[in-house]
Amino acid sequence: MPDDSPPAPATPPPHTGAVTGVLELLAFLRDPDFAQKRFDRFGDVYETVVAGQPQVFARGADAMADLMRQAAALEGWWPASVSQLLGPFSLANRNGESHLARRRVVGRLFSTAALRACAPGIVRISEGVIDDLAAASPPVALAPRMRAFAFEVIAEEVLTLSPEGRASLFDDFELWTSGLFSFPLALPGSPLARAKAARRRLIRRLLGLLPSLSVLADACDEAGLPLQDPDLADQLLLLLFAGYETTASALTLAVLLLLQHPDTLAWLLEELDTVPWPPDASGLDQLDTLPRLNAVIKEVLRLVPPVGGLFRRAKEPVRLGPWTIAAGRVIQVDLRATQRDDRAFGDGDRFRPERHLEAAAPAAANLPFGVAPRVCLGKPLAELELRLLLTRLLQSLRFRLEPDQDLTLEVIPTPRPRSGLLVRVERR
Ligand code: HEM
Repeated sequence: MPDDSPPAPATPPPHTGAVTGVLELLAFLRDPDFAQKRFDRFGDVYETVVAGQPQVFARGADAMADLMRQAAALEGWWPASVSQLLGPFSLANRNGESHLARRRVVGRLFSTAALRACAPGIVRISEGVIDDLAAASPPVALAPRMRAFAFEVIAEEVLTLSPEGRASLFDDFELWTSGLFSFPLALPGSPLARAKAARRRLIRRLLGLLPSLSVLADACDEAGLPLQDPDLADQLLLLLFAGYETTASALTLAVLLLLQHPDTLAWLLEELDTVPWPPDASGLDQLDTLPRLNAVIKEVLRLVPPVGGLFRRAKEPVRLGPWTIAAGRVIQVDLRATQRDDRAFGDGDRFRPERHLEAAAPAAANLPFGVAPRVCLGKPLAELELRLLLTRLLQSLRFRLEPDQDLTLEVIPTPRPRSGLLVRVERR
């Protein structure tokens, strides 16, 4: 049981007793309840060692609020496997002014005007997904279709890669992704070694595509920041990855949760069936403000956040609740545990979109897109994709869950049902 008496000033949080962190790493990679079990035992903030790396785990709205308040004392940090695969120039591996400068470049791609220009393309790609699903022989695995959809959107509509460029990248991306958060030794044949080889091929191809990518060059010009080619290639790699993996997870989980909650699906359809398709400019404004659709999306991202945790490193001692975290310590704030916390939501494990139309929970308890200065750059794109594809998918098709499939979630790198989400599809 956690000890509730207040700790003395500068007291470190409770420790699991792990020394080398090898068993902790194996548990972290395999057990979706890794952090939860330790929170139950040690309280909202505890320290352990994962693969030789001392790490503080934290959960709850208070921890998020502490993180925001002390942002200047913290810097970004990623496990070695992620950091190596993202590359030395990636904005995700940078801090301070060089991080912010690259955010200014990349942020230009997600302005309201830029996204409005992408919307007709996303509508067209959505129609393609629906036609393919309606024609596919049953049962269909939905998760890979959602990955292909989200990859096509970021590669074709946002980054304007040619069809040949896209096709040659996707398979290597799937290999690269499977090495993220893997065992951090690149032994021959290991997921990390295969992912590193995929990274070398991806970077070579992205460098070859750069001359035709005016969209990034324009963004650099507008931000007044000329970037060298290897720098641009690493930002592209990050965008392609961040741009499909997370959104695909949210789309897959949205369909799964709605199929598991038919009353909620019927409630949502009452609203979606009134939405004209394809949406014109005012239709897009309407999609932004549909209360039920937006509540469903918020609830999916709350219950199963695509990014499970935020990593930071303390540059100087920081306070997390009653505890003092020493300079140099890595902190992981667990978004999943925070967003399911009964203290903020009453019934945190329940899928209940209506909650977002009722009394507000503390804002710091539900931040699936993270916090400044590293808050998600692609949030407006992700929301646009979710609104457009979910609207059209549910307006046009009826889904039935295939029985006897393994719907437990793989959580790394992003949550998805182990079965791939097998469904039978017919036109409505
Ligand atoms: C539902 C979909 C998405 C979710 C839940 C999500 C969530 C997040 C979160 C939590 C972070 C912060 C990570 C941290 O603090 O360490 C982040 C960062 C980021 N996201 Fe997203 N994301 C989504 C979609 C996208 C899309 C579509 C893009 C566009 C390509 C994107 C691009 C980025 C980038 C570039 C960063 C790095 C920001 C930085 O380090 O300054 N994300 N995202």
